Amino acid sequence: MSIWRVQGGYPLEGSLTIQGAKNAVLPVLAATILTGSRTELTNVPDLRDVEASLNVLRRLGCTVQRQDDVVTVDSGGLTDFYIPRELTGQMRSSVIFLGAVLARCGQARIAMPGGCELGPRPVDLHLAAMRALGAEVSTENGEIVCRADGLTGGAVELALPSVGATENAMIAACAARGTTVITGAAREPEIVELQGFLRALGAEMEGAGSSVITVRGFSPAERVGWRVMPDRIAAATMLCACASAGGQVELRGVDPDHIQSVSDVLAAMGADVRAGTRRVSIRCDGRLRAGGTIVTGPYPGFPTDAQPLMMAASLKADGTTVFVENIFSCRYRQAAQMVRMGADIDVSGRRAVVRGVARLHGAEVLAEDLRGGAALIIAGLGAEGQTVIMDRGHVARGYEGLDRALTALGAQIEFVK
Ligand code: UD1
Repeated sequence: MSIWRVQGGYPLEGSLTIQGAKNAVLPVLAATILTGSRTELTNVPDLRDVEASLNVLRRLGCTVQRQDDVVTVDSGGLTDFYIPRELTGQMRSSVIFLGAVLARCGQARIAMPGGCELGPRPVDLHLAAMRALGAEVSTENGEIVCRADGLTGGAVELALPSVGATENAMIAACAARGTTVITGAAREPEIVELQGFLRALGAEMEGAGSSVITVRGFSPAERVGWRVMPDRIAAATMLCACASAGGQVELRGVDPDHIQSVSDVLAAMGADVRAGTRRVSIRCDGRLRAGGTIVTGPYPGFPTDAQPLMMAASLKADGTTVFVENIFSCRYRQAAQMVRMGADIDVSGRRAVVRGVARLHGAEVLAEDLRGGAALIIAGLGAEGQTVIMDRGHVARGYEGLDRALTALGAQIEFVK
């Protein structure tokens, strides 16, 4: 169990560079196995989920090296197609390896870790996509088993714009004969990033960022280099932290378009948010007002991952904020912890109603998932006294040196492992 100790009441001042994106680097790492050659990735964040992915690559027979933010993967020696439960249990999104392993080996066997902290995490769309490309798919003893005697391009129609299923379909389609058209595709920036990386690897592909992605073929390139995009949810975290604590912060290396929906809400709350070239700044003087109704949805809608963060930023805003969570069924676990800090929140199914209070007080609270844990840290920055957040390693899955980054901005925060 790790502990975050946050002493509230210190405004944030300064600037920082945002880390590389967790949700972009995970599918990119999986896709490195497509070519059987060497890939050098830079701006790779040092996160538990990244470490878990590197362990999966090692287990499959790849040679993996890491030095600071540079990760080199040589997938020439890949021999295995099995990812056992001891590895998938460390990272819920390990299903992202399915398309890549199937594409490279003609078969894949991946243990599924079951439900996660956000509610059930079905994989039906991933499996349907593999079937649409000609794979035989079954589940045996909690393991997904896929086989294909050569994948064939075809129509992959996604019933929901699942980010992971879109990524798996894009990666697997690289190894398919003929053209694949993915419809109902997710449009998140990480999908555009994956298309860029797959093109660098040798894919002929277009359409990412729209709901139709076409994959025409693949001729593997040698020794590819790639720089991982900045993390839009880490950027949203810092904006919400400033909204909670007050102060003035500049984020460097971010794409303002990627966090537009979050910036818009903060601006509506009265924060002074300004976008520049690969930069966003925020200034918050005095009490913010409530941001109205915040509805999560697929990109470019308000990101579900930023919902707990924005909830933390809304706890002391003047008025009532309503959250409607449309992506995951169990994503308000932070609310009960925030109530322990004096917040006024009612949760009912997909809706949460936050009535702004004049002050929050420190309390001992429990981080029950990654973004919920970050949200409690944000709430603690805006509370009176000390907040102690007990955390079974959730926050380290997605944030690199969050304590150091916040300390550099003037926060009083201590992380004890
Ligand atoms: C990714 C992100 C996660 C983010 C989520 C939504 C990564 C590593 N994780 O997760 O941080 O919160 O997108 O933006 O990139 N679904 C099905 N069947 C499936 C797959 C998904 O019903 O086969 C449902 C899910 O239960 C959920 C919705 O589709 O309700 C969206 O999930 P999805 O976009 O797949 O999320 P992930 O890719 O797992």
